[in-house]
Amino acid sequence: MKLDEIPEFLHGGDYNPDQWLDRPDILEDDIRLMKQAGVNCVSVGIFAWSALEPQEGVFRFEWLDRLMDSMYENGIHVILATPSAARPPWMAKKYPEVMRTDANRVRQLYGGRENHCESSKIWREKVRIIDEELSRRYARHPALVMWHLSNEFYGHCYCETCAANFRKWLRHRYGTIENLNRKYWSAFWSHGYSDFDEIEPPAPNGERQLHALTLDYDRFWNDLLNDFVEMEKAAVLKYGPDVPVTTNMHNMNCGVDYYKQAKHLDRISWDSYPRWHCQADKSTEWENAVGAGFTFDYARSLKHAPFYLMESAPSVPSQFEFCKLKRPGMHMLSSLQAIAHGADSVQYFQWRKSRGAVEKFHGAVVSHDGSGDTRVFRDVSEVGQKLKELSWLKGRPEISEAAVIYDYENLQALLQQVGLRRDKSFFEKLPRAHYEALLKNFVNVDVIGAEDDLSRYKLVAAPALYLFRPDTAQRIRSFVEQGGTFVMTCYSGLADENDLAFAGTLSRPEFAPHGLNDVFGLRVKEIDGLCDDEYREIEYRGKLYKALVCCELTEPAAGAGSETSGTAGAAPARCLAVYRQDFYSGTCAAAEHDFGKGRAYYMACHAEADFLRDFYSDALDAAGVKRLTESRGVGDVILRERDGVLFAMNFSTQPRTVRIGGRDVTLPGYGYEIVG
Ligand code: GAL
Repeated sequence: MKLDEIPEFLHGGDYNPDQWLDRPDILEDDIRLMKQAGVNCVSVGIFAWSALEPQEGVFRFEWLDRLMDSMYENGIHVILATPSAARPPWMAKKYPEVMRTDANRVRQLYGGRENHCESSKIWREKVRIIDEELSRRYARHPALVMWHLSNEFYGHCYCETCAANFRKWLRHRYGTIENLNRKYWSAFWSHGYSDFDEIEPPAPNGERQLHALTLDYDRFWNDLLNDFVEMEKAAVLKYGPDVPVTTNMHNMNCGVDYYKQAKHLDRISWDSYPRWHCQADKSTEWENAVGAGFTFDYARSLKHAPFYLMESAPSVPSQFEFCKLKRPGMHMLSSLQAIAHGADSVQYFQWRKSRGAVEKFHGAVVSHDGSGDTRVFRDVSEVGQKLKELSWLKGRPEISEAAVIYDYENLQALLQQVGLRRDKSFFEKLPRAHYEALLKNFVNVDVIGAEDDLSRYKLVAAPALYLFRPDTAQRIRSFVEQGGTFVMTCYSGLADENDLAFAGTLSRPEFAPHGLNDVFGLRVKEIDGLCDDEYREIEYRGKLYKALVCCELTEPAAGAGSETSGTAGAAPARCLAVYRQDFYSGTCAAAEHDFGKGRAYYMACHAEADFLRDFYSDALDAAGVKRLTESRGVGDVILRERDGVLFAMNFSTQPRTVRIGGRDVTLPGYGYEIVG
């Protein structure tokens, strides 16, 4: 059956029968238990290379043949993985260059997983061969519904072959060394290159401070990875071109630019492991839910289409600092959250617990007892039942009128630039803080890249959009001109795509946000960094809030640059919030400005969560963004609408009451309601 023809959500998970090849009785148990738990899909073969090719060129497919057939006979779909995330020992012994070289230029010894070199010709060749063998045998097997490439791609290799490929990539990008020197600002600290061959990729004991180089190495590696993805894709599609291809994404800052990678995949899949109930890192249940929602909305927005929750923990993952059981109700709630945010599946890592090695105590649907007589198994079965009831929602879209920009390259640039503060983790959390404020205002939200089409939204938020590509300013300008509401925050529009600061001259001075002073009606003159325990009071609509981390000093800019926009003589920004402390007391901390048919807001500081919530409440109303309830200020509850169906989810242990469809609905602790 084709993936899109399956009339229900996928429910199941990673299944590793290759660990039980001598136990056919276990396979029989598994099928019986899968049926009981309402499982209709398994992901198979993810780490099965040594079971498939125990010696070079010697293939063993009998076990997988039997498995595919018996899954099909039992009505269970298969997502078949390529085994390229881990390799058999014979390969590393014979071809050591398949192993990754780390940034210190030390090649890894055999072991672990996801640690190969994407440049290695022999690695690519071995992967192509096994992938084509899988395709030859299973591309037309009726159990197969999707290909799963590798597992959680991440990290970079720094070997000599990668370095040589990088130099080729640079020649292609810059043409001449003079051009590269200009774009790299390499005169700084005497770094002017005379030849591409002198360029060494970044290293802890070498080059770390030439920011354009670091950004480029990351771009190069992502291009290399996507080329590898294309190679694997061609291999699996060789004997059956109409099976969709995915890979499981997992961490928004793991070295993979998912926005780019998404273009090479047919479907988006996401692995989600919130630390439910764990206060060790001081995160609350609500923060966990916001974090999970943020990644789900990101995954969905990559293709503006439903995504697959490929892995989640049915009980407790074993790798956390403290391994807390999922409390009663949480498994259903967290699974429904994925569906509410646009998932078409609830898949687990893992179906059955391994007996050995590092993940033997990682939660699974079937534990070491093998019985199915467990609370986890019953929770999973209930989710299976609930997903069946909601089947008609599968494939249905989710529409958002508001979006937050999370841009991978922008984040890399923010994390490497030296200024404002040494600890940059703030920038990683920032888009999520704005997302949270929007969620608290009960609207659907997308999480998009800076290059995404903005015109589909009424309101777009761009927290610290530091890096402007050549067309960024123009895209924001047209969006506002045509009626959109754009919210930009401090530390935006400071550097170009090579992380060179924008600079002006006497006749054409340059102030942030670059190229947009007339759109925002202001310009940034100075930036004050606050210490961790410092704040400055700001006043917004008669209430005091705390500005944290970053306070910019701005001045109004009436009609600056207005000749090009046709809004000559436009008034400067209206000040909405005012600093009430320090030498900049009385100046503007947040402003609004009408431009064209739209409105541009500028938040000159980063402010506490209550400010963000109240600020967005007003901005959303002014922009006419649809709210999912008339209730205001109800904490711990996420509301989402998917194709007209409203999901109300309470992430607190205490009941919460919210108005839905004109009536008050009380959600019990960890409770939910689905309306529509
Ligand atoms: C995932 C990975 C799985 C398993 C799981 C444990 O990131 O893809 O193979 O290791 O973590 O939580």
